[in-house]
Amino acid sequence: MVFVLPGVKFDLDMIKKYDTPAPRYTSYPPATELTTEFTATDFQAAIAASNQRKSPLSLYFHIPFCQSACYFCGCNTVISNNKEIAKPYLEHLVCEIKNMAALINPERKVLQIHWGGGTPNYLDHNQVKFLWKHITQYFTIDPQAEISIEINPRYVDQDYIFFLREIGFNRISFGIQDFNRQVQVAVNRVQPEEMLFDVMSWIKAAKFESVNVDLIYGLPHQTLQTFRDTLHKTMALDPDRIVVFNFAYVPWMKPAQKNIPQEALPKPQEKLEILRMTIEELTNNKYIFIGMDHFAKYNDELTIAQRDRTLQRNFQGYTTHAETELLGFGATSISMLNDAYVQNHKQLRDYYQAIAKDSLPISKGIKLTQDDMIRRDVIMWIMSHFHLNKRDIEEKYHISFDQYFSSELKALEPLEADGLLRILTNHIQITDIGRLLVRNIVVKFDTYNQSPDKQFSRAI
Ligand SMILES: C[S@@+](CC[C@H](N)C(=O)[O-])C[C@H]1O[C@@H](n2cnc3c(N)ncnc32)[C@H](O)[C@@H]1O
Ligand code: SF4
Repeated sequence: MVFVLPGVKFDLDMIKKYDTPAPRYTSYPPATELTTEFTATDFQAAIAASNQRKSPLSLYFHIPFCQSACYFCGCNTVISNNKEIAKPYLEHLVCEIKNMAALINPERKVLQIHWGGGTPNYLDHNQVKFLWKHITQYFTIDPQAEISIEINPRYVDQDYIFFLREIGFNRISFGIQDFNRQVQVAVNRVQPEEMLFDVMSWIKAAKFESVNVDLIYGLPHQTLQTFRDTLHKTMALDPDRIVVFNFAYVPWMKPAQKNIPQEALPKPQEKLEILRMTIEELTNNKYIFIGMDHFAKYNDELTIAQRDRTLQRNFQGYTTHAETELLGFGATSISMLNDAYVQNHKQLRDYYQAIAKDSLPISKGIKLTQDDMIRRDVIMWIMSHFHLNKRDIEEKYHISFDQYFSSELKALEPLEADGLLRILTNHIQITDIGRLLVRNIVVKFDTYNQSPDKQFSRAI
């Protein structure tokens, strides 16, 4: 059964055959390869080397707090109604900013800032101003920078939205997940339709330059019909980008998910139908399939970046400005330099202790080898553009692509025979059928994913 959709084909037989668990490749090597052998001292050396390159920066700030627990949530959060807990966190975050800024060449411009969570709008006006003041004091922000924030729509009013815009945020993202009340009750996140339309009208009135919304498919009580209704209402909101996440159901890791009645989850066949319908609805209605779970309007920066070949993946998903290096601040945050990745401590106690000792709050990291970097370029380029020019890799790394990857190319032959990709003399081209299975294609270039005991989510 093959449904033809613009730029992507939903081929049920191929999905059933090839959809095995694989990393999401928000980085390569995947975050699971970071180890405690890589220390804060190693990271300082990597920063010094990156200062020589003078590459521009992306900054990520993690605000882990949420007012209440959404049962589906897989993010790293601290649930509390006591807003006082944000105070010590912000004080430590500002120390981290100062310590990091002291290591960074001030000529390096910041092109992107993102506040994520958790719920960044957990912070009150003064707390937002406090953090913003220190970011702008210690880093050189490009006047054209993309400055984005994730908000939970249940905890904002018009005044707060306008306040964010005045501070300098020019992009915004909020979670919808599903419009259906029965689904919302089952996941402990009731947000009436009028509230979501109000929030969007304030965002539009405040003139944010791009608005993203998140949906999740695979939640309890969802059916083809209820999710179609959710998609119609979401499109009526008219966001610039829509991310449709596949529900990652991992109750052994996220105990709150045990509150979800397992028997109410849609069956695999229904989930596939929902996915097919989602792609059909969105691509028939002014949204372009960017890749994996991302859709964007034709004139959105993501679509333009894909066209201009400046799209990249980092741990937030697809994003623009492939030329930047990422510095992450706050508990659990990940930094990605060209040749080294690190992750901060996850537990607030460990994060606070490291900062109190005046050291970078790194829990683990990895130094990339030349082989990692070659494979990273191949995997990320294919994930972002569904295409690879072998000669680009050969020129950059002085290798013969076909020799270096002879066993990988052999492993791809059955996938080519099934029509997922075409391996040409100079190029690798992912077909419209292969696009939904791109993770299962690039995994062949991944040397870390050869062990069968690794646990990853399914692509579909
Ligand atoms: C940090 S939250 C977004 C901001 C804000 N906290 C909110 O909920 O509106 C990031 C997004 O991750 C997605 N998400 C969270 N847990 C997930 C899971 N288990 N599976 C798939 N997507 C998930 C949701 O769509 C959520 O909106
Ligand atoms: S989905 Fe958002 S608001 Fe809900 S628990 Fe997760 S991070 Fe918090």
